[in-house]
Amino acid sequence: MQKITIEKILKKKNKTPIVCLTAYSKAIAQIADRYCDIILVGDSLGMVLYGMKTTRKIKIETMIPHAKTVKDFARKSLVVFDMPYKTYTNKFIAYKNAKKIMRLTKCDAIKLEGGKKIVNIIKYLTKRKIPVIGHVGLLPQTSINFKVKGKNFIQKKQILEDAKAVSNSGVFAIIIECVVENLAKIITKNISVPTIGIGASKYCDGQILVIDDMLGLSDFYPKFVKQYSNLKKIIEKSVKGYAKDVKLRKFPSNKNVYK
Ligand code: KIV
Repeated sequence: MQKITIEKILKKKNKTPIVCLTAYSKAIAQIADRYCDIILVGDSLGMVLYGMKTTRKIKIETMIPHAKTVKDFARKSLVVFDMPYKTYTNKFIAYKNAKKIMRLTKCDAIKLEGGKKIVNIIKYLTKRKIPVIGHVGLLPQTSINFKVKGKNFIQKKQILEDAKAVSNSGVFAIIIECVVENLAKIITKNISVPTIGIGASKYCDGQILVIDDMLGLSDFYPKFVKQYSNLKKIIEKSVKGYAKDVKLRKFPSNKNVYK
């Protein structure tokens, strides 16, 4: 088993697509680890696991046990901790929180959302040996509307400038979320670190999805999500079958009984 390193991720640019997924638990981490280069413990867990309406409510303290578990059971992939909203409002707060996260979870890197405005924070962290992944385009922690980005010239220019600034600040990859295809293509061509798309076309150096979305376990199915299974349906069928068996006294059967 060859451990994925940041150097290996960097070398994949323009060569081999980088496979990434989110994970928040042991079982998913173990499976994702066999196929992914990067596993993100996303702040999406607030919505996916805890039913929060946005990603803004999740706290570091709630994410830490999930990240620790994912890191314990992902032995090959890089595990990245997604710093929650308002936990990196300035470089000192960011460093204090990132250091605590790295110490308690042993994650390999952290992820921060934002463009030019957070460049000084990224520089401060990377200079202090905290590896960082950037995140540009649609920014769920701060966006007012959740529409695709980069449709007009001004937005395109601003997102490209953000990506360039973040790329030059020490990150080893950048997530590009929900932008038009030609912008993802331009960004990928114009920055030196790998781009990882979510709703950002095949022109990125890698792809990421929220695991619950691609498994059909969430109720969130925008155009950019490909549903690889319908787990909700499968679980429903199993639970219905169990309930029926219990009511008909078919479960437990002889096979399930100690004699
Ligand atoms: O929180 C998350 O899961 C993310 C991905 C959507 C990239 O940031």
